[in-house]
Amino acid sequence: MSTKKKGLKKDNSKHKHVNLSKRKVENKPKPIIINEKTTKINKENKQFNFQKIIKVMRAALNSDTSEDPKDKKEILTNPQIDVNPIIKNRKMPETGNIFNKTLIPGLDSLLVEGIPKGAAVIVCGGTGSGKTILNLQIMANACMQGKKCLYLTLEESELRLISHMNDFGWDAKRYIREEKLAFLRLNPFDIMRSVDALLAKEKGELLIDIKPVILPKDYTPEFIFVDSLTAISAAFIGRKDTYRVYIEKLFRYFEEIGATTFLITETAQIPKQFSPTGTEEFLADGVIILYSIQRQNIRERAIEVLKMRGVAHQRKVVAMRIVKGVGVEIFPDQEVFVKEI
Ligand SMILES: Nc1ncnc2c1ncn2[C@@H]1O[C@H](COP(=O)(O)OP(=O)(O)OP(=O)(O)O)[C@@H](O)[C@H]1O
Ligand SMILES: [Mg+2]
Repeated sequence: MSTKKKGLKKDNSKHKHVNLSKRKVENKPKPIIINEKTTKINKENKQFNFQKIIKVMRAALNSDTSEDPKDKKEILTNPQIDVNPIIKNRKMPETGNIFNKTLIPGLDSLLVEGIPKGAAVIVCGGTGSGKTILNLQIMANACMQGKKCLYLTLEESELRLISHMNDFGWDAKRYIREEKLAFLRLNPFDIMRSVDALLAKEKGELLIDIKPVILPKDYTPEFIFVDSLTAISAAFIGRKDTYRVYIEKLFRYFEEIGATTFLITETAQIPKQFSPTGTEEFLADGVIILYSIQRQNIRERAIEVLKMRGVAHQRKVVAMRIVKGVGVEIFPDQEVFVKEI
């Protein structure tokens, strides 16, 4: 099912500290504005024309004129921001002890209490390990409970994802009709070019506050899925620091919104690092690992909750399988030895 990002290399280099805190902005630049119309949902197909939004955003970036703010939406501002790493600043979400159940029985058993509301959770694993299917299932279960979800896809098309959901009996079209579910397709290279354009405009000063994704207007999701951070990072090849700034903004933005987020990253089949730069896993509140372990001539699937800040969870690697028409099944009593034989 995978449409791989062929030719894109992962940037596995270690995070470097960029100390820009002493830089000052003398004159606060003018906000850049975007026409509100472009952020509206296309009422007919309920999908979002993000390409158009990016186009208008780029046009706005190249324009020095600001128009009447009444019928415009400000999407980009340039406050003086310290872009030093926010790892130390990231707070656990104020959950008020609200936890989300995934309604995948084995996974809920590993998680014990559940996923804290507002947490950012990395779901990592090798290619074909089931990252997309697991997230689509968590999303379908959330929609079924009446929760609004947004799936940001940087790899597979919306139609393919809808078709995968149908294969497993998850009624994506119904949830879209009921406005519980929206897919938004993003082009990682458009994101990279937009961030680059902003940096160029500010003459390399990394002082820009950009909304890292423009969410559909009047659509406030409780769950956001990003498939995948690896696809975004691949577009930023050779621009490691820029990617880091972008990713920190993305985490901070999701934190502000208060949505529970699932961020997919592609790793080795038995990973030692869980995200493209290794920084993201520290920004995240939770890490779930999907394994595809080779045992001679077969591969076994397994899953582990590596961390979930602020909650007790089971700490073991257990068997998982993907069943046609059903989805992911997890067996918390079947422990799996991770080393390849
Ligand atoms: N309808 C289905 N029934 C049973 N198993 C399936 C079905 N569709 C996919 N699979 C299994 O799930 C695997 C792919 O799962 P998924 O696309 O979620 O992986 P992924 O980790 O997201 O991969 P990628 O890194 O390529 O995005 C397939 O390789 C196949 O083994
Ligand atoms: Mg996938």
